[in-house]
Amino acid sequence: MSESKSPQYCPETLALSAGFVPDHQTKTTTPDITMSVNHCFVPEEGSFSANGIEDLADAPFLYAGWTNPTVRQLEQRIAALECTDDAYATMTGMAALSAVFFSLLRAGDHLIISDVCYAAVYELARDVLPDYGIEVTAVNLTDLDAVVQAIRPNTRLIHAESPCNPLLRLTDLAQLAHVAKQHQVLLSVDSTFATPVITRPAVLGADLVIHSLTKFINGHGDALGGCVAGNKALIAQIRSRAAAHFGATISAQNAWLIMRGIETLYPRMKTISDSAHQIAQWLENHPRVKQVNYPGLTSHPQYALAQEQMAYGGGIIVFQVDALDDIAQRFARDARLFYYAYSIGHQRSLAVLLKTADLMTSTYRMTAEQEQQFRHYAGDGVLRLSIGLENPHDLIEELEQLLR
Ligand SMILES: Cc1ncc(COP(=O)(O)O)c(C=O)c1O
Repeated sequence: MSESKSPQYCPETLALSAGFVPDHQTKTTTPDITMSVNHCFVPEEGSFSANGIEDLADAPFLYAGWTNPTVRQLEQRIAALECTDDAYATMTGMAALSAVFFSLLRAGDHLIISDVCYAAVYELARDVLPDYGIEVTAVNLTDLDAVVQAIRPNTRLIHAESPCNPLLRLTDLAQLAHVAKQHQVLLSVDSTFATPVITRPAVLGADLVIHSLTKFINGHGDALGGCVAGNKALIAQIRSRAAAHFGATISAQNAWLIMRGIETLYPRMKTISDSAHQIAQWLENHPRVKQVNYPGLTSHPQYALAQEQMAYGGGIIVFQVDALDDIAQRFARDARLFYYAYSIGHQRSLAVLLKTADLMTSTYRMTAEQEQQFRHYAGDGVLRLSIGLENPHDLIEELEQLLR
């Protein structure tokens, strides 16, 4: 297949150019979308078959379940931004996470997962993987001694999320990658909250970088998608299972929408982070607000690490406030700019209440000590804000009304 030339451009430029091959005939300036599920081929004796092709990405385009010209452009662009050899794009972020776990882990293997991470991936690890004979331990990955203690001879993978959903607790990725390498364990990092604009986990030593593309990377709230980026051999291993056997590959239409989103990712993340920073500072000075977690604030418990590992503070803020239910009601009923909804990373600002007691019942199974650490960040619960592209002064004015 034709690969685009990607010279050593800066990331902002690669967000527009990596993987883009203008159509020679029509001289397009924007990627075309190929909707065809099938590509014709003329079998040649003994040579034109998918059998024996080790990496499905190297096969000619045959069937969109494996890959497709539009999907491949998206994968090449993500790989360029994450500084990895390759990437595989999936229907959702959860499909990417499932593809990683079910492609790399076998019965008898052991997984270490962050004790706080996106609820559905934690539940997948807690409830589903053990049914397939995979052992799982949830560890606070900020405590590297605890990580080392948790490693067993059969540990195959450590899965981290930084900043993590919903606490915005950070993991020192360079140090964790060092520990993982010392013990010959793979490290996967869900970098959905950061995006490659803010942190590039593979540059810090992670083996695999996972995203829900549904969030900031698409950024328009109109397409589901996910991806995993890494070295060629690992991505080929994941693709061969997830594409051929799990049917996890993203659709061409969503790949196209997400690629369009990526083209403005760099200016969007900068604007969103600048706004979020202003709003987090404003919240911190509000008399009704008890605590604000935002990696860009000097009050964040890991501010020094944030400065080292993150180019900006990102678009998510969580805060604790008196009369939590009452305030959440006001967000849901009265807000005009903040939409009360579960997702994050859209062009419009979103807000949602996450109560600690509910999360402890529905998702996390924590020791008393782990719960105490969780409450250090979240108390009895937080309002999670995902800041969009509105003018921050308008958002602050609305917050002032809602917190009155
Ligand atoms: C950190 C993180 N990872 C993965 C996912 C799952 O993504 P998707 O909804 O695209 O399956 C989410 C969803 O909120 C998330 O916040």
